[in-house]
Amino acid sequence: MAAHISFKQCFVPKTKEQEDKEETTYQRYTEIMSTLPRVRGFALKNLYQHQGFWYVDSYLPGVMAVQNHFMAHSSDILLASPPKCGTTWLKSLIFAICNRKLLHPLLNVNPHQLVPFLEFQLYANNQIPVLDILPSPRLFATHIPYSSLPQSILDSGCPIVYICRNPKDAFVSLWHFLNKISTEESTMPSLEEAFEMFCNGASHYGPFWDHVLEYWRASLDRPQCVMFFKYEEMQAEVIGHVKRLAEFIRCPFSLEEEKEGVVDEIIRLCSFENLSRLDVNKAGDALFGKTGIKSNSFFRKGKVGDWSNYLTPNMIERLDRISEQKFHGYGLTLG
Ligand code: A3P
Repeated sequence: MAAHISFKQCFVPKTKEQEDKEETTYQRYTEIMSTLPRVRGFALKNLYQHQGFWYVDSYLPGVMAVQNHFMAHSSDILLASPPKCGTTWLKSLIFAICNRKLLHPLLNVNPHQLVPFLEFQLYANNQIPVLDILPSPRLFATHIPYSSLPQSILDSGCPIVYICRNPKDAFVSLWHFLNKISTEESTMPSLEEAFEMFCNGASHYGPFWDHVLEYWRASLDRPQCVMFFKYEEMQAEVIGHVKRLAEFIRCPFSLEEEKEGVVDEIIRLCSFENLSRLDVNKAGDALFGKTGIKSNSFFRKGKVGDWSNYLTPNMIERLDRISEQKFHGYGLTLG
């Protein structure tokens, strides 16, 4: 049975000279960041505007490092998403599909440790990781908008799988997540204040709508490279989505595997009910840069339509109106 290699092994020992060079590189990115437009965002942290999107200060240098140093391979698989739109679920599914011969690491490792985020798990802590030691296909995730992806990803032609969700659930999920992980120094604004920031685009990797629209258009322009999923549609018809996903990432299921129930087994393994009850996801931490985020923060309700419990009719109307305006003419609806 093949063993899984942890992404932490990509942080190989470096000479003092290399370490200093990498630190200087990140310092330069931090200096550039300090010159960018800034607003107070969710969790009362500063958000910086880079290439039209808003980023928290702790992650933006990592984004710049990815843009300048990440070299994609055509065999890589990239999962892209706005925050809180089903990334954990899709990470699990992609990992399970690609590693279906393993005795399953997902049972005792958090999905975020198995499919790391480029910009805050790999290009973090002033380090440039050595990614060539990872087995092929290398699996990565990112929240970076399509227009800011490194050219090497676009040139490589590697499959990019995008997942998004209706903005009402995305906002409510983000609100709960940031409340859960916020520390005393960064207490959260009220739901109403956060809502205002979200609508104005000043949320992590926002404007939400622009993020979605860029990947939507890319999926129409380059359907062989970008696959676009909606969380709600995946919930409604998971088998079809998982089979299409497997084909798209070049690990299709054989008829025999389908008959043996491999697809159903993967769906069950990656289900909200299963993952959220595992000890590793109830009690452990997932490492993001130097910070550990409680694994259970990534599992809340896993339902479609929870927004109806939090948003007022005015808020609903406003979000729907923005979606209509932003997506008008592009053939995209998000519910
Ligand atoms: P809710 O807050 O609405 O419950 P992300 O993984 O991008 O951070 O998104 C988190 C959202 O996906 C949360 O939504 C979370 O509960 C839900 N989620 C996590 N794991 C899931 C799974 N295996 N299946 C379906 N939804 C899942």
